[in-house]
Amino acid sequence: MSSSEIDLSEFYSPLGTALIESIYFDDYLSIGGTGSTDILAAEAGITAASNVLDVGSGLGGPALHLAQNHGCRVTGLDIVESNVQTANERAAARGLDQLANFRLGDAMAMPFEAGQFDVIVGQDAWCHVPDKDKLIAECARVITPGGMVAFTDWLAVGEMDGADRDEVLAAMAAPNLATLASHAANLDRHGFTVLKQDDISAVFISQYNDIIARLESMEGEISETFSAKLYSIIHNLNGRIRRAFDDGKLGGGRIVARKDH
Ligand SMILES: C[S@@+](CC[C@H](N)C(=O)[O-])C[C@H]1O[C@@H](n2cnc3c(N)ncnc32)[C@H](O)[C@@H]1O
Repeated sequence: MSSSEIDLSEFYSPLGTALIESIYFDDYLSIGGTGSTDILAAEAGITAASNVLDVGSGLGGPALHLAQNHGCRVTGLDIVESNVQTANERAAARGLDQLANFRLGDAMAMPFEAGQFDVIVGQDAWCHVPDKDKLIAECARVITPGGMVAFTDWLAVGEMDGADRDEVLAAMAAPNLATLASHAANLDRHGFTVLKQDDISAVFISQYNDIIARLESMEGEISETFSAKLYSIIHNLNGRIRRAFDDGKLGGGRIVARKDH
């Protein structure tokens, strides 16, 4: 599958997101949950006065958690309309819509004015974005001078080529994968000072193993609610991703940077 063939609205269809959320955590489409959000908040120095942008906000997990627990304003940006709608409905249902709102748009062409945000976060979403340099260029445009970026992402940590690479990318609905070095180079090129670039592959692997165990424990429930065929497809895709982790090809990272120039 090439990047242009990836249909994220299909991957993150209401059915697909409901299934992922049921295996992951409430409101989350990523494996680190609120613990990972809190680390990003601490690294970025988020306070109640922060005006935060969450790029690839999904069903609103990180943004709603930040609004609820840190009292900051958060705007979520997502390219899948049903995710944006669900996240806005959840914000309203919890009385958080004065702090958290969600917008439809592409991370490579953000629908925001320059210098609008003082913090940008992203949780396991940027792997889906075809042109990571454009994404970082947009972060550089919409962030205020001195603003902080903190994100986690799925990364290539070993050589992957041919069918191997194609299978893993297709299982993740990712057009390509960054490395810690390529993210850092893009940030540097667009005026950020990279403060931290941590390989957290061991954390990703442990969290992913927990997710697979949960998936397997839910086989009966998923087969009944969705279908046995869907369970088997998801299980195979997750198995392919776990093999890439085990082979030392796929991993995860956390990067923190400040917009200095
Ligand atoms: C793995 S989910 C993570 C969602 C959320 N960060 C969380 O932790 O629950 C990735 C999200 O990124 C969104 N996304 C992918 N490509 C995007 C793009 N180019 N612009 C904006 N959002 C995008 C997807 O629609 C999806 O909701």
